[in-house]
Amino acid sequence: MTSSSSARRRIAVTGAASGIGKALCGLLRAQGDDVIGVDLRDAEVRADLGTPAGRQEAVRAVLERSGGVLDAVTACAGVSARVPVTIAVNYFGVTELLQGLRPALARARAPRAAFVGSVVGTKAVAPEVVGACLSGDEPAALATAATLAGQGGGGALYPASKAALARWLRRTAVTEEWAGAGIPLNAVGPGVVLTPMHAAVAVTKEQRRIVEQAVPMPLNGHAEPEVIAQALRWLTSVENTHVTGQVLYVDGGAEAVLRGPDRF
Ligand code: NAI
Repeated sequence: MTSSSSARRRIAVTGAASGIGKALCGLLRAQGDDVIGVDLRDAEVRADLGTPAGRQEAVRAVLERSGGVLDAVTACAGVSARVPVTIAVNYFGVTELLQGLRPALARARAPRAAFVGSVVGTKAVAPEVVGACLSGDEPAALATAATLAGQGGGGALYPASKAALARWLRRTAVTEEWAGAGIPLNAVGPGVVLTPMHAAVAVTKEQRRIVEQAVPMPLNGHAEPEVIAQALRWLTSVENTHVTGQVLYVDGGAEAVLRGPDRF
């Protein structure tokens, strides 16, 4: 069953107050969709996705506002700090929210789900943190992340959170609960996006040079948040009937440069 592409859809978006999530909310509202924004502030649902209780509250409040039926969910909320909260928000704040809202998606006629990964999720870092994430053990993941950060390895936590998400995506999207229920589940993997998150880590000339080196973007350079939002909009539109389990790199070519021509 499909619904017409012009029908008004009910869509939940996390990270709605800033950057990519805010841009996506703008695009969806402009095309007439009914958007339920979730964020720490400035959103219909205010909740902390970094804690189990906050996620439960987010799911409860979104279900209440949506009447228990959602056409799409897109998880954009994230942080890039060198501390364990990055794992809590970026990995568990995405996977638990999507799983909590999945039954409401399954009740819709053309449900879709997506989240924001990153090209840095292609790095093989912090395997013990990634492993704990994939086993669904949040206390172990946070404890391992704290140990790593204490040893000066906090910089690996952000790429680890995105690597774990990309692996969770591939194993989850094809299961009975998602593909079997007709719910495409995908991610967009940006390079550098000009949002407050980027501005906070690229303050000095030296910091900007390090970012340029780490994420080379030969096609059109750094992206505006609307560019990423457009890709998320399509992945969660009724037009997407057969793309699932994919990280779509919207990164100006960074993934192709970093992983090279033999990876496909
Ligand atoms: P941003 O900082 O502009 O927006 C992030 C939003 O998430 C904020 O509104 C913030 O309040 C919300 N948020 C943070 N912690 C939260 C929590 N515990 N509970 C609820 N909401 C919370 O950042 P941006 O750039 O828009 O990031 C969006 C996503 O894109 C993130 O997942 C980020 O990792 C990803 N990304 C960003 C890139 C960039 O260069 N800006 C590159 C690659 C990925």
